[in-house]
Amino acid sequence: MQLRNFILAAFTVLGFAFLVASCTQDEGTLINKTFTDEDYEIIAQHLNIPNDRTEYLNIALPKHMESSGFSVAGGTITNKGAILGRVLFYDTRLSKNDAVSCASCHEQANGFAENAAFSKGFDNQETKRNSLAIGNVRFYYHDRGFMWDERAESVEDQTRKTVTDHIEMGMDSWADVTDKVADSDFYPILFKSAFGDENITEDRIQVALSMFVRSIISKDAPFDRAMVADNNGNGFGVPNSLGDFTDSENRGMALYMNSCRACHGNIVFLGKSSANNGLDMEYADKGVGELSNNSYDNGVFKVPFMRNIGLTAPYMHDGRFQTLEEVIEHYSSGIKNHNNLDALLPAGGFDFSAQEKEDLVAFLHTLSDEVMATEERYSNPFK
Ligand code: HEC
Ligand code: HEC
Repeated sequence: MQLRNFILAAFTVLGFAFLVASCTQDEGTLINKTFTDEDYEIIAQHLNIPNDRTEYLNIALPKHMESSGFSVAGGTITNKGAILGRVLFYDTRLSKNDAVSCASCHEQANGFAENAAFSKGFDNQETKRNSLAIGNVRFYYHDRGFMWDERAESVEDQTRKTVTDHIEMGMDSWADVTDKVADSDFYPILFKSAFGDENITEDRIQVALSMFVRSIISKDAPFDRAMVADNNGNGFGVPNSLGDFTDSENRGMALYMNSCRACHGNIVFLGKSSANNGLDMEYADKGVGELSNNSYDNGVFKVPFMRNIGLTAPYMHDGRFQTLEEVIEHYSSGIKNHNNLDALLPAGGFDFSAQEKEDLVAFLHTLSDEVMATEERYSNPFK
């Protein structure tokens, strides 16, 4: 018994000593730096990324968003993993003919969506659906799927499908992807920094991309600033009015909370995961119904979040509406009485007055986050 304790204690001390030794060694060369000077020299030939520590995980959230993180979807984020993910996100090497990157269809300035009804893939063929905005994915609930029909269960899964999609990026196999990525002098360094060794694998590419995607957070829109100014803090409620809002924005917010919130969430939190919002009587694209072959799912699509909605035109799964005014007109007078129309929406429409339409649009524009849309840590790192 005593011998066992002794051996245990000896191992503990040894282990601790080893830990301290490896920490000091790391810190000796890498205090607050991502790469060694030698590695950074190679990185800096190709990439515009600072060697000072860049934070992707511990981003200070305003009080009203703090508890929105209670169900962080997917794996964790490391700063070095997200840096690698950022480079991969902007790298056209991930497509068959080096023509497109993730960022081609998810542009930072447009809230990581694209201002085209359909996006052009590697071979100039169009995607079947409108590009979805990316942001605050970290706060998706676990039961929430990705894509317009929620067919991907995680960002990793979505990435796996996109890169080999014959319209989007067109890679023939993931082995081709890892080969192409390995054929560069900076990726081995980035993979070692992110994962501990230079192995470039399919899994690691998907994990790193997902870390970057999950790191993208919108928290600086006028809505957020007004919430902070009013010191709104418990993360669950949004007050009836905000001091920094115009009267029109406040009226729009109240209308939104009445008519839209049950599906689109109260901005701090997400709402319903998917629904039929009465766009058509006959759907050319059946959405979830295409997958399930169940007529109850026809015309059912993911409910997109409203953050940055002013930046992500055109709207709906097929980009049919060019402006927010047209979207509001749909909800006011265009809601089709489809069998699957969600009970939260009145057939025919809400019949908003001209003033109400204006107010709703004014409120939606308070959700555009120009900080996120220009922030360096999310931007194209290639020189
Ligand atoms: C050719 C254009 C194109 C490229 C390239 C592309 N995407 Fe997309 N992305 C789309 C479209 C279109 C959708 C919506 C697709 C659908 O629902 O069928 C989408 C959806 C997504 C979603 C789902 C968002 C949500 O809330 O459900 C994520 C995440 C995403 N893409 C990330 C990526 C990443 C990471 C890459 C690079 C590996 C990438 N995309 C490359 C066009 C593209
Ligand atoms: C029953 C749930 C539901 C309600 C209530 C609802 N929506 Fe929607 N909304 C959806 C769905 C589902 C979509 C995607 C539909 C599609 O593309 O086929 C959508 C799409 C949108 C879009 C386009 C998003 C994008 O990224 O393209 C906007 C903007 C929008 N809704 C605003 C509103 C406003 C404003 C209200 C209140 C007046 C409202 N919605 C009420 C379910 C709802």
